[in-house]
Amino acid sequence: MHQTSTTLLSLLDLQAMKRRQEKISSLTAYDASFSTLIDAIGIDIILVGDSLGMVIQGQRTTLPVKLEDILYHTRCVTRSRNRSLVIADLPFMSYCTPEQAAINAGRLLSEAEAQIVKLEGPRFEIIRFLVDQGIPVCAHLGLLPQSINLIGEYRVTGQTTKDAERILDQAYEVERAGASLLLLECVPAELAKEITQQLEIPVIGIGSGVDCDGQVLVLYDMLDITHGKKPRFTKNFLLETNSIAEAIMLYHQSVKNATFPAPEHSY
Ligand code: KIV
Repeated sequence: MHQTSTTLLSLLDLQAMKRRQEKISSLTAYDASFSTLIDAIGIDIILVGDSLGMVIQGQRTTLPVKLEDILYHTRCVTRSRNRSLVIADLPFMSYCTPEQAAINAGRLLSEAEAQIVKLEGPRFEIIRFLVDQGIPVCAHLGLLPQSINLIGEYRVTGQTTKDAERILDQAYEVERAGASLLLLECVPAELAKEITQQLEIPVIGIGSGVDCDGQVLVLYDMLDITHGKKPRFTKNFLLETNSIAEAIMLYHQSVKNATFPAPEHSY
């Protein structure tokens, strides 16, 4: 199959979308077939997330995911998209020092053609170092799945005043450190709204209310094919149609017209 030569979305496009208040749609994908479909539907960002550890590899957490896994799946995805911007996750323990982070993030960009790397936590020094090397960064705050052994359970964060202030401060700091995007996972909708209004960079939410600049979901969650307990913030878009393509289209439209997430998907 030949690829047509449309232009890939860039960070500038996402910034322009934030300015004109157009919602940004995003889904995870890990292979060529879904990448092609998601791209054709017009989803703005494809995230090759370390959630692949759980939904593809059957691991209990994201911790066993290796850089080589993300490289492999990112190549599958970037080969088959024409427009969507691709973000690749830096897996657990792949960004312990600025130098290690730069080498690994550099590989995701140069060998797998990701456009941005995502890393978890308020890692200001690492973010600054990557940006100095010309590597755009999406910071990930709120619930940090790579810290599951520290936090004990996957749960909403930022519900106390102290926690909310901490996350707000971290959000300012990651922007100051040079992050180009912020992903907020499982923070109360009011806090996510404030952060989105305060920051200049686009804020993408998952379980963080409708007022973020955009939304992301794990593809297999919204197709309801993940095992175990479903998080409150996800929605089965296949319930309203019997076509995967239409379910993804429905998700895309619901993000664009801000009907997803509804209050029942938020905290
Ligand atoms: O790995 C992942 O899929 C994520 C989710 C928060 C979207 O980071």
